[in-house]
Amino acid sequence: MAVSFYNFNDLHHDEIITTIKDRINSIIDNSAFVEGEFNQAFEKEFAANQKAKHCLLVANGTDALEIALKVYGVGPGDKVGVPGITFYATAEAVLNVGATPVWIDVDPIAGLFCPKSLERVHAKHNLKAVMPVHIYGLPCPMKEINSFCQTNNIAIVEDAAQAQGTYYGENSPVGDSPNLVTFSFYPTKNLSAFGDAGCILTNDDDLAKKILAERNHGRGDDMVMGRNSRCDHMQAAVLHAKLPEAQKFNNQRKMVAQRYFNALQGLPIKVLPEHFICLSSWHLYPVQVESVEVREKLMAYLRSKEIGCTPFYEKTLSQEASLVEFEGEDESARGFAGHTLCLPMNPFLTEEDVLEVSGAIKEFFN
Ligand SMILES: Cc1ncc(COP(=O)(O)O)c(C=O)c1O
Repeated sequence: MAVSFYNFNDLHHDEIITTIKDRINSIIDNSAFVEGEFNQAFEKEFAANQKAKHCLLVANGTDALEIALKVYGVGPGDKVGVPGITFYATAEAVLNVGATPVWIDVDPIAGLFCPKSLERVHAKHNLKAVMPVHIYGLPCPMKEINSFCQTNNIAIVEDAAQAQGTYYGENSPVGDSPNLVTFSFYPTKNLSAFGDAGCILTNDDDLAKKILAERNHGRGDDMVMGRNSRCDHMQAAVLHAKLPEAQKFNNQRKMVAQRYFNALQGLPIKVLPEHFICLSSWHLYPVQVESVEVREKLMAYLRSKEIGCTPFYEKTLSQEASLVEFEGEDESARGFAGHTLCLPMNPFLTEEDVLEVSGAIKEFFN
């Protein structure tokens, strides 16, 4: 049996498909294509789920990052701290507002934004903003980051594109935060649209007003230049229909992560510490091996057994050809990128699937 890496097109729930199709039919019948009742309903429910005051849907997760930076007033001449381990979009948003990314190193165990590196980099670069990324769904150490940034007047945009279902701590979901927190609902994400969508969470009424204006051509009390980053009504209808299931699916991912944790003990690979099991959304399941060579061989072996696996991220952003000119710290990030392999992860993996993957890894090392 093949253990797929993703399973995102399989909703495993016919009822929801029927609901979604009915909603799409009624949106077509009513020609209510942009910003309809499901936009408002989703924004209200998602904000409540994440313990935030406002949720503003936008067209995608990259726009969410860019708009967040813009409403904080980040622009040309400003420097923004970005971790080396993330998807290209995090740095892209900084460049798109005309600011300069500066690399913040990550911790070598989980690949998360490192507060100590932040202190050193800020002393040298005087950052205007930082973008901790809850990468793979793991929560960044926000207490330390918030405390340093508050003291030093640094704005924070939390990139939670992979973190729908992540908790900072017990009863405190990502979004229960003083910062702007952005999500992507791209089809591979834990909560996903049938196309592109994203959102920004905030507790700040003034920032919410600015985001509302920015996403709709600057329309608001004072006409300012904005853009079109509205979320289609059909995507909002899909997200709203899927929201009640998301918690269940995220719990299933946690169960898969616990099974991996148990099954992979005693092997020459590093799994993430057990305390992450309850906290992470387990968007991905990364493990680390001792070298790039072992990673390449293990990946080839697993793929030969039809077990999907991918090195997310094969390079740090600082190693990308178009970004090598930028400064900062990335030593741990480079090591992390070279040694990491993501194993199959989705809510529908069974105990047998996990044993098949761990069994193949054992065979490889034997
Ligand atoms: C960490 C991170 N940030 C930002 C994005 C951008 O989101 P989108 O593709 O919806 O623009 C992604 C999407 O993969 C992501 O993984």
